[in-house]
Amino acid sequence: VKPENNCIVIFGASGDLTHRKLIPAFYHLFANGLLSEEFAILGVSRTHYSDAEFQQKLKESLTANEKVDPQVLDAFCQRLHYQAIDTKSVEDYAKLKARLDEIGHKYRTGGNTTFYLATPPSLYSVIPECLAAHGLNKEDNGWKRLIVEKPFGYDLATAEQLDHDLHAHFQEHQIYRIDHYLGKETVQNLLVFRFANGMFEPLWNRNFIDYVEITAAEFLGVEERGGYYDGAGAVRDMFQNHLLQVLAMVGMEPPAAINADSMRDEVMKVFKSLQPLSENDLQNNLVLGQYTESDVRGDHLKGYREEPGVAEDSRTETYVGLKMFIDNWRWNGVPFYVRTGKRLPTRVTEVVIHFKKTPHPVFGANAPENKLIIRIQPDEGILMSFGLKKPGAGFEAKEVSMDFHYESLEETHMLTAYERLLLDSMKGDATLFARTDAVKACWQFVQPILEYKENPEHLYGYAAGTWGPKEADELLSRDGREWRFPCKNLTNTDY
Ligand code: BG6
Repeated sequence: VKPENNCIVIFGASGDLTHRKLIPAFYHLFANGLLSEEFAILGVSRTHYSDAEFQQKLKESLTANEKVDPQVLDAFCQRLHYQAIDTKSVEDYAKLKARLDEIGHKYRTGGNTTFYLATPPSLYSVIPECLAAHGLNKEDNGWKRLIVEKPFGYDLATAEQLDHDLHAHFQEHQIYRIDHYLGKETVQNLLVFRFANGMFEPLWNRNFIDYVEITAAEFLGVEERGGYYDGAGAVRDMFQNHLLQVLAMVGMEPPAAINADSMRDEVMKVFKSLQPLSENDLQNNLVLGQYTESDVRGDHLKGYREEPGVAEDSRTETYVGLKMFIDNWRWNGVPFYVRTGKRLPTRVTEVVIHFKKTPHPVFGANAPENKLIIRIQPDEGILMSFGLKKPGAGFEAKEVSMDFHYESLEETHMLTAYERLLLDSMKGDATLFARTDAVKACWQFVQPILEYKENPEHLYGYAAGTWGPKEADELLSRDGREWRFPCKNLTNTDY
């Protein structure tokens, strides 16, 4: 089913997100015939451009960065429009409204409009207020939706404030909070894999699972984003949102149905069951690290404190590792070891489920354990490892594996995270968007870490290109476990 005719208004139209992610996603949706019969994009920002200049700019960036068909590109660009306004001036929104009326008429949108806030977070409260002053939040004439990007606040208090500001003018059903990890095919597959296969679900609990690892490693450092990152750190940037969402997909109960309410109710139940972090957890089960300069496979990499925009004496973490628990019927006592970091040896995101050993080690204590590896990126797939007899004399067990790679599927177009999420928002499907209560619950869980990391007792250095501080290995080794070494092909690039 295609979305209804609609117009997308992108605030922050001359910014990086618009060029790198949003416009390419719309182009590919258009090229694959997935958008509504009639649709238009209205770019908004302070800089003055004519429609033609805006179209030309985006055409150039699409041609440079994407595989495009020139004819499709022309047709797509004709639907791009532009309006300069001062986003902080409420009077200026009259121009936006007039432009929307004109576009609505031309493209028969029936007033259906999405406002995408691809702006700095400081505008998240201002824009909705100005839109509301011109009645652009009212749904009596077509739907009105608001898409916001993280960060949804800086901590629990600011997240609550932001929510309060958004809800002053838009209702929860109109608000779509993007966590692009939920748009990833393999993250969604966690649900299908778990709940469509009778083989695994009976084992998916404390009786059979020994522990779970979640790793999101990046090779890249903070690149051009030092200014933002130094005020955020890995806990806010990756852990509070993406990693906790992945953890929820691994840990949740089967939803009553695949729809926004049922799914998000189950996600919320996981967050409500997270064991709150104690002083002891902060001291012993949390590892914060910061990368230092190093030579990696022939490249000299700067330390974090030498990156542009980063304070020379910064105490911001670029690595976080945490041992945590979900206190509920299914998971009681099963540790989840979660880690993420910049400047690790390579880019890889994966979930590893370690199953318990058989009750009695008839083939010796070193017989392989069963592992299920869900590779979220870059080489999306699933791998199951188990023990088989090593050919030859005796009964020695050897680890072998069965694997599946997404690239072997024949489906032609795999939607990127942004394509999937933008399409869903146009269809009014909020299943893969973060709900207000979940965002707050995640902040609540990390709040003790945020307070601790203001002035951390321990912030360990790790050489760029290594798997983080050795203390993170000890997090597992003192439990007699170790992180899985995630891949053979280590490269000095994230893409
Ligand atoms: C973003 C973070 O949300 O996610 C970035 O702000 C991070 O710092 C990125 O690099 C990782 O996303 P992905 O899709 O490349 O894993």
